[in-house]
Amino acid sequence: MSASSYLFGESTGELQRLARQAALVEPETEELFRRAGITAGMHVLDIGSGAGDVALLMGRLVRPGGSVLGIERSADSVALATQRVAAAANVPVRFEMGDLNTYEPSAAYDAVVGRFVLPYLADPPGVLRRLASHVRPGGIIALMEFDVTRIESVPEAPLFRTVATWIRQAFEGSGIDPALGSRLGAVFRDAGLPWPHMSSFQKASGGPDGFYWLFAETVRTLLPQIERLGLASAEQVDIDSLADRLRDEAIATRLTAFSPRWVGAWVSVSVPGGPSAGA
Ligand SMILES: C[S@@+](CC[C@H](N)C(=O)[O-])C[C@H]1O[C@@H](n2cnc3c(N)ncnc32)[C@H](O)[C@@H]1O
Repeated sequence: MSASSYLFGESTGELQRLARQAALVEPETEELFRRAGITAGMHVLDIGSGAGDVALLMGRLVRPGGSVLGIERSADSVALATQRVAAAANVPVRFEMGDLNTYEPSAAYDAVVGRFVLPYLADPPGVLRRLASHVRPGGIIALMEFDVTRIESVPEAPLFRTVATWIRQAFEGSGIDPALGSRLGAVFRDAGLPWPHMSSFQKASGGPDGFYWLFAETVRTLLPQIERLGLASAEQVDIDSLADRLRDEAIATRLTAFSPRWVGAWVSVSVPGGPSAGA
């Protein structure tokens, strides 16, 4: 698989995982975009929309008067995201199919935003540079990305460590940078942008109600890569019992499980943009 491929599948299960993960990080995502300056009346481009969670959040932030266009490569994702917008009612959001590796916006935007998408692109700085040229002067680029190399438990425990290793190695073995989030500043600089403002966070949980599903469902979607790379067999992973076994281990060892590190970065763009703003 090349670095330009989206590592995860586009099954219903994967779209459900995206929406569940989106709910977990929604408060910090909203805070990032507010701090970046996203506000009512803006015209925003959301890249790699998936199930549409970022675009829906954006839609609430930019109304009244603003608009959001989500670009997404998967037809199934575009269909689901479009349905969710219709169900939400009164959010100025629409989606278009497009491949970000070549996508050229046809208008200028007040902001380009995205979450958990750059690592899957063939040339993240190149895409960022191209999209930045369609942001009006004074506009915003704001992104949130992940670093799965920071998944850990305290204290360490065998199953949790194994799961964290599968996840990291599945990304690495597929040619996808598992730690791009922690390198976002350098990616912005490579795109010719200023060093961004940055923030980061991890979620922590433990006990009977911990978010073990986050790790187990990530492994579920990575299972084809885990098997293909010879990291483990489906029998060894035993995916349907994985969340329960992680919970049992966590309770027995009283461990705290830490999510990936999630990193936000944002800049105000000073280069000349394209034509006047509009989505
Ligand atoms: C991990 S999901 C994130 C979805 C959403 N941004 C969120 O945070 O919930 C990454 C999304 O990027 C999309 N994607 C990956 N490569 C792409 C490309 N070259 N062009 C357009 N979309 C792409 C995938 O199809 C997937 O929906």
